[in-house]
Amino acid sequence: MHYGADYNPEQWPEEIWPEDVARMREAGVTMVSLGIFSWSRIQPREGEFDFEWLDRVVELLHEGGIAVDLATATASPPPWASAAYPEILPRDENGAVYWPGSRQQFAPSSPVYRRLAAELVTAIAERYAAHPAVVMWHVNNEYGCHVNMDFSDAARDAFRRWLGDRYGSVDALNEAWGTNFWSQRYQSFDEVFPPRKAPYSVNPGQMLDYRRFTSDMLLECYLMERDLIRAAGASQPITTNFMGAFKPADYAKWAPHLDVVSDDAYPDPNDPESFRAAAFQRDLVRSLKPEVPWILMEQATNALNWRPANAPKAPGQMAALSAQAIGRGADGILFFQWRQSRAGAEKFHSAMLPYAGTETRTWREVVALGEQLAALPALPAATHDARVALVFDWENWWAVEASDHPQNQLDYLAIVLRWYRALHRRHVQVDIVPPSRVASGVDGYDLAIAPLLYLLREPDAAALVSFVEGGGHLLTGPFSDVVDEADRFREGGFLTQLGALCGIRLEDFGALVEPDAPPTVPGEREARFSGEFVPEARATLFAEEIAVTSDATVEAAFTSGRRAGHPALTARRAGRGVARYLATVPDEAGVQVVVDHVLADAGVAPVLPGLPEHAEVARRGELVTVVNHGARRVDVPLAGIDAVTGERVDSVALEQYDWALVFER
Ligand code: GLA
Repeated sequence: MHYGADYNPEQWPEEIWPEDVARMREAGVTMVSLGIFSWSRIQPREGEFDFEWLDRVVELLHEGGIAVDLATATASPPPWASAAYPEILPRDENGAVYWPGSRQQFAPSSPVYRRLAAELVTAIAERYAAHPAVVMWHVNNEYGCHVNMDFSDAARDAFRRWLGDRYGSVDALNEAWGTNFWSQRYQSFDEVFPPRKAPYSVNPGQMLDYRRFTSDMLLECYLMERDLIRAAGASQPITTNFMGAFKPADYAKWAPHLDVVSDDAYPDPNDPESFRAAAFQRDLVRSLKPEVPWILMEQATNALNWRPANAPKAPGQMAALSAQAIGRGADGILFFQWRQSRAGAEKFHSAMLPYAGTETRTWREVVALGEQLAALPALPAATHDARVALVFDWENWWAVEASDHPQNQLDYLAIVLRWYRALHRRHVQVDIVPPSRVASGVDGYDLAIAPLLYLLREPDAAALVSFVEGGGHLLTGPFSDVVDEADRFREGGFLTQLGALCGIRLEDFGALVEPDAPPTVPGEREARFSGEFVPEARATLFAEEIAVTSDATVEAAFTSGRRAGHPALTARRAGRGVARYLATVPDEAGVQVVVDHVLADAGVAPVLPGLPEHAEVARRGELVTVVNHGARRVDVPLAGIDAVTGERVDSVALEQYDWALVFER
């Protein structure tokens, strides 16, 4: 179990460093991420490297028994780089430059940026590849975090090359993007631009490809650095820190290239329900690479600086969220950052060692958690614990949220989270996977929930069909199976791949629009639905016009609105399984009602029965983690060995923010 933080010693005089190491030992720190923002100190001028200070830091840490997750320092190019090569600066869709003075001011596709980054990475990797202190490599930092998309000339040129590779011919590109619409037909790739500011809606195929391209450019930067580290002879695992469900980067595509997935998470301590979204993020990153424990690379010990107002964490909340991460597969708990900065934009951001010193609640909690983590034995990998798959797909996310849809108020992540919260309240273990993984057989899910599967590739549709035929319960819809990977309607209408499976046909999408004023006819623009197993619930966003075509049953019908009396939820037995289609997005309570119904029908059990909603439970092999996020005490009958104390327990009693890790033995 790693424990530590980003360590930025260049922010402090050298006399402080030995004290840092001593304090790290006091706190039980085992590893620090070193040098993430050190480029301007490591390379003060082009062609000139200064490693002596870094050598001394690495030695000090090594002597102190603190391992190093060594950064490649490429996340914030130094001022000399953009002064000499202004073309490395990224631009927004209006052509405005992201100037230096902050961080991440680089265009990922810029050949000059990549050359400068490569020279730096090679120098660092060659110097430290064999150093015994270095146990991991930390490539760049939160790729794409601030510059979500770059529209620079470097991006333009790279996009043209990327399109050439993807389509082979400009005719294929014209076909995919449907460029006969609005006179957009291209004669050569050199006529194509990034989707910069245009008079009106840009071509949706172009926008979707630009999102793919953006993720790929960032990934190319990662891969370049990874390959250089390896070429320098390094054998340690290599990672870069993810940000959970981060829209610009398709982490499902990235994860195979990381030896270890690491993730940064900053749930809002002021939101009493944010622990559920945090649990979603943990489950997502675990599911990206389930065979290898992941690392919580950054969280905050206490308050942040970057929300409109930054609530402190409550006493115990930091440890509770750390336990949540461990229970959901993490083998490392690290923070941003080790010592609170004295200057700069993040000087009010909490740290392991507060600026106010060690006579602080933060420090005491940091030391206490370090002791508890140090007592943990090796923990099992978290594979095959979930019976439920929640489908999450980046390309679909991008396509769902494109413009000019029947419903332009779709927030894909918010809707997926609504489904996740309903599962979380029922203490069910969930993996969050792309559609292709649902039927993999390896995971063996009983239930798959696939909200808003708008962009559905053929192999993914086939996987869902075979999942159901093999005995799985699938719930999908609305706004699903609408377009192919180019965001074009498929031949033959809608639901061309899942319609037969679900036993329904879709006639129209029927957006539900909140009335601007009280409707003249009551119920005209709002809708509710209910059925035998589904207590009445509110429909939002869509009341799709679906019709049952075969042996599907209507499990719930709209009870008000223009679709009153028509199907809202259908179910069809297919093969050994069941395919359900939901013609609306229920509100929070409605999603709970539907989740309860499908969990019961699929026979999915909670990890532990009888827990209140403010407690959470997770399984990681034989390790069961219970965390109480609420004010009411929770008593859990749970027999086994307490992983921290090593003692046998029959039950655990948890006050607010208490947690327990118990091996069921
Ligand atoms: C991100 C960055 C860190 C720091 C924190 C602050 O996670 O990676 O460098 O800025 O945010 O919360």
